Amino acid sequence: MKRTIYIAVMLFSMLPASLLANEGMWLVSLLNRMNEAEMKGLGLNLTKEEIYSINTASLKDAIVRLNYGQCTGEVVSDKGLIFTNHHCGYDAIQTLSTVENNLLLDGFCAKSFAQELPIENFKISFLVRIEDVTKDMLSVVSDGMSETDRDKALAAKSKELSAANTNNGMYEVEVKSFFYGNEYYMMVYQTFSDIRLVGNPPESVGKFGGDTDNWMWPRHTGDFSMLRIYADKNNQPAAYSKENVPYTPKHFLPVNIDGVEEGDFTMIMGFPGRTSRYLTSYGIEQAVETRNPALIECLGTKLESWKSVMDKDARVRLMYAAKYASTANGWKYYIGQTRGLKRLDVKSDKAKIEVDFTKWLNGNGTTKSKYGETLKSIQDYYNEWDPYVKASTYSSMCGIGGAEFMAFAAEMGEAIKQIMAETDEAKRKEGLASLQADIDAHFKEYDAETDKVVFVNLTTLYRERITADRPTWHAMLDEKYKGSAMAYANKLFETSVFVNKDRLMKFLEKPSAKVVDKDLAYIAASSASAHAMNFRSLNPQQKFNKGMRQFVAGLREMSPNKAFAPDANSTMRVTYGIVDDYKAADAVRYDFYTTAAGIMEKRDNSNPEFVVPDKLAELITKKDFGRYANAKGELPTCFIHNLDITGGNSGSPVIDGDGNIVGIAFDGNWEAMSGDIAFEPELQRTISVDIRYVLFVVEKLMGGKNIVDELKYVKKKPKVEVAPAPAVAPVVAPVVEPAPVKAPAKKGAVTKTPVAEPKKK
Ligand code: ARG
Repeated sequence: MKRTIYIAVMLFSMLPASLLANEGMWLVSLLNRMNEAEMKGLGLNLTKEEIYSINTASLKDAIVRLNYGQCTGEVVSDKGLIFTNHHCGYDAIQTLSTVENNLLLDGFCAKSFAQELPIENFKISFLVRIEDVTKDMLSVVSDGMSETDRDKALAAKSKELSAANTNNGMYEVEVKSFFYGNEYYMMVYQTFSDIRLVGNPPESVGKFGGDTDNWMWPRHTGDFSMLRIYADKNNQPAAYSKENVPYTPKHFLPVNIDGVEEGDFTMIMGFPGRTSRYLTSYGIEQAVETRNPALIECLGTKLESWKSVMDKDARVRLMYAAKYASTANGWKYYIGQTRGLKRLDVKSDKAKIEVDFTKWLNGNGTTKSKYGETLKSIQDYYNEWDPYVKASTYSSMCGIGGAEFMAFAAEMGEAIKQIMAETDEAKRKEGLASLQADIDAHFKEYDAETDKVVFVNLTTLYRERITADRPTWHAMLDEKYKGSAMAYANKLFETSVFVNKDRLMKFLEKPSAKVVDKDLAYIAASSASAHAMNFRSLNPQQKFNKGMRQFVAGLREMSPNKAFAPDANSTMRVTYGIVDDYKAADAVRYDFYTTAAGIMEKRDNSNPEFVVPDKLAELITKKDFGRYANAKGELPTCFIHNLDITGGNSGSPVIDGDGNIVGIAFDGNWEAMSGDIAFEPELQRTISVDIRYVLFVVEKLMGGKNIVDELKYVKKKPKVEVAPAPAVAPVVAPVVEPAPVKAPAKKGAVTKTPVAEPKKK
């Protein structure tokens, strides 16, 4: 073991520093020669085809996408067992819990297939294949086209390609843009919907450290949960049925419980959601100065409001657990990102790239005519949009994307009005009946008292921050309610049909559009929605799109020998590098792994975030680690490596050089929170839970012997000495796109609401 480390250290000290800087979420089907040489140099013993192949089973067949990009999971047995993060199963586990039988709090472990719990509305997709469709897509556009025409033509072509490749409805197809519309790839998936919960640790393990430790290293969180895919008797996707059987995968990952050492090669395959590595200096300025502070304040106010009720009421605490966790995750993300962008002065780095770009294009008549206007058009976009950023962020985050009734009342009210305008009685009935599913979904996790606190606090905050051009309903608030959000809320929550399920059901027995129009929730919501939509129309997005498309094309033309990695876009990517510690601050160097001893150091049973259950404390104190201890007799909990992941990658397997799982990725570190915009080789680390800690918890704490016995174990192959890889140009640079505000992922109803929250990792 020692010798191996020595060789590895020698090897790495001979490599150029750039080789250790592992930026790049590489499209799994496009690993190039540079990647392959570099990966082999770092310790990969597999071929490109063993990672991704459409003809034979490969690693990609063991990697799954959860809920269309929310998270990643991996198949770890021949019976369709899936490992992912605890925070990826969180919502599902919450839904299966009650205050009396709280699986989220206490954990759950099925001791047989029969005990596994069906999860509603959970989808798991396998990637069948990727196809380069750049030529097809770009054949329908030309340089002279307006952006609107371009978008239309591309959308039509994409629809056509998708329709032609579903294999009679067997597959789901997505055509995705890469490099800001310079390349297009078609992703073909097969999606399963009978998914069952196999087990999850208690929250005190799965979310140990809570929001305090979130986005931080050193970490001691057992962030994993276990699911199983069920299929029909032909191994095909099917809706839930008792007759379904565990899915037989094309490939699954064996487990390496010998663990990783510093310098060891690892790679991660998964579905990173979004990065903005090509963002310009102007975009960074806008995020740091205007957008992020507003986002942080609104999200923070929402969290405080929720917490004030959750702290007092166990029912609400459970009901709002997942919403709270994901909002808190986003809130802390923006705080960290802002801090990182400032501290690392990312804006100056980006400005340097822009200077180089300008120098390059000025040196040549052709490039000048092609890209001469590029940066200016991006700058124009930011200048034109800038005056609205603050107002638009508060408008959406405190308005239509604020209190939960807002989006619901806007859509439901609109839908009811449309249905009532229908003259045919039968059609009206049918229309009203079709609303039931959305109504049930909304009220299932809705507490009006809690939402009222949110509404009052966000409305008050909004009025403090924005004094001009408010949504129209504020005029009524001023006139009739003396500007008191509380007075308006009191009346609203007493009368509105959109904040009380019984009231709404009763109203739907004899619905009327007039009543909707007078409903205080609908009045506020429809006005807030129109206000937010108006900002959308003021956003000169097309200028941005065109500018970025040219900028990224230009950057690639400028450095033809550099391997550029595309921004994340919820497609399957590979990132690779080595297990590596880092210097976090002056005089502070963090080790590359944590152990169970640290759990006991952090233990504080008076603080809900740092509770250690007695049984776990006892196992740790007695060092009852079984085969999961390392050579030093410690139980490793988490480790860090210099890989490049982001939200959506959560739950991805950490794979060793031979294709075995050694951990599950779940987070990034605080010092490099600007990493989605600029990768920081010295600072940025992926945080993963060690598979040994996962299996220790399953076996010793959760009693899941049946589960650990289902896995396949391999012995680590002794390391072979390899010659250092040929020096390759460092992977480049960075950069793109502001996060235009996106619709919130709401269950049920559709929202056109701008809300920016990063996807869960
Ligand atoms: N930061 C992690 C991510 O984005 C989520 C961790 C969830 N844990 C928590 N305490 N909220 O994937």
